[in-house]
Amino acid sequence: MTNNKRDGFGSRFGALVALAGAAIGLGNLWRFPYLVGNNGGGAFIIIYLAFVILLLLPVMYAEFVIGRRSQSNVLGAIKKLAPKSVFISIGILSIAVTLTILSFYSVVGGWTIEYIVQSFSSDLFKQDNGALGATFSNFISAPVRPAVMHLVFLGLTALIVAGGIKDGIEKYTKFLTPMLFVIIVILLVRSITLPGAEEGLRFLFYPDFSKLKASSFLDALGQGFFSLSLGMGCIITYASYVNKRENIRKMSLTTVVADTLFAVLAGIAIMPAVFAFGVSPTSGPSLVFITLPQIFAQLPFGQMFSLLFFIVLFVAAITSSISMLEIVVAYICEEFKLSRKAAVLYSSLFVAITGLLCSLSEGAFSNFRLFDKNIFDLFDYASNNIMLPLGGLLVVLFVGWKLKRKDVLDEMTSGGTIPMNRAIFGSVMIILKFIAPLAISIVMLNGIGLIKIF
Ligand code: PHE
Repeated sequence: MTNNKRDGFGSRFGALVALAGAAIGLGNLWRFPYLVGNNGGGAFIIIYLAFVILLLLPVMYAEFVIGRRSQSNVLGAIKKLAPKSVFISIGILSIAVTLTILSFYSVVGGWTIEYIVQSFSSDLFKQDNGALGATFSNFISAPVRPAVMHLVFLGLTALIVAGGIKDGIEKYTKFLTPMLFVIIVILLVRSITLPGAEEGLRFLFYPDFSKLKASSFLDALGQGFFSLSLGMGCIITYASYVNKRENIRKMSLTTVVADTLFAVLAGIAIMPAVFAFGVSPTSGPSLVFITLPQIFAQLPFGQMFSLLFFIVLFVAAITSSISMLEIVVAYICEEFKLSRKAAVLYSSLFVAITGLLCSLSEGAFSNFRLFDKNIFDLFDYASNNIMLPLGGLLVVLFVGWKLKRKDVLDEMTSGGTIPMNRAIFGSVMIILKFIAPLAISIVMLNGIGLIKIF
């Protein structure tokens, strides 16, 4: 396959919605609001923003440079830019972590479909709090239904990716990503107009520096990586489809702003409602599948809000899972010279099976444990705490030390056509060479318990 025949985004808007759609995902909806509230509200937001702007934006530049310069899949990119170097591991690791995350992400995607279906039946809303918890745990531990939903979710992802970049990913994310913002704003308005909403806003925004823990810094960095889809080749892959004339610094910034804005909007859509009904805030699956349905059950027109919420969750999940599948598909197509359809088929068959294992690990296989975790939790832990930071570390080392400085500048300025302030470029290089590798290493080693700094 030659480069002139290579598919790509048809427009700047198309690229932006795809990138924002990849970044906005479950992480924004079920983790960010809770992390903020529990780590001193506004105080955590300040730390998060500082990390995002000073550290993660440069990491995103680095991934953009690799992807757009090489116009290749993750492995092909490194092969092109630094043949036979140890950095080939970036490509291998990216594929591995993507398959790992996609496996459990697709299972959760299936759960969102189930709850969209459930939102149509009024039974869900007749249950009291305890029953809602039981409904959720009975559902995810059942052998067949969650597995079928996982396959439906993965099937939809595969259909979109099979269409290609312009006629698949871009075509769908063009309306799905804007839809996310529209629905979250509707939910937000409902939430902040509830009596007692101030308490939730206070939980989110009041800067309580005394609640900042040492671990808050780790949480902020880890959340930033995951939320911005960094460290796993996602941005590298999408950037490879971006037109050579585009300003990649602006595109990175827009992606970061869209993702962070959405996370804050999600917080305002969720937490005031949680506090208005006097339930205690939670995070992860129990927030969205147990706590929020409790609220919908008591809210006038709750069924409609429930439906809107689970649609947001589903759309956020699918625009992210599309980007993950594309990483693998681009790799298989280009490295094994297979057609896109065949690549989609093989990669989704693989994830169908690994996802089934994750799904069953919540029920039938729950006794199978490694390091005291079931398969689902193990995949989640290994990807977040080890593979993503490691991928991020390799990426910054690669761009900071292995690529030629003038090539990095050339790519960041789109071949010299979009000037970049020298001091800013110099700072970005210092961050990529020294600060980011150090910060990421500390977070990672501390996270897996090898060193105890915090
Ligand atoms: N950023 C997504 C989220 O916040 C997750 C994701 C990670 C998507 C990596 C693609 C690649 O949920």
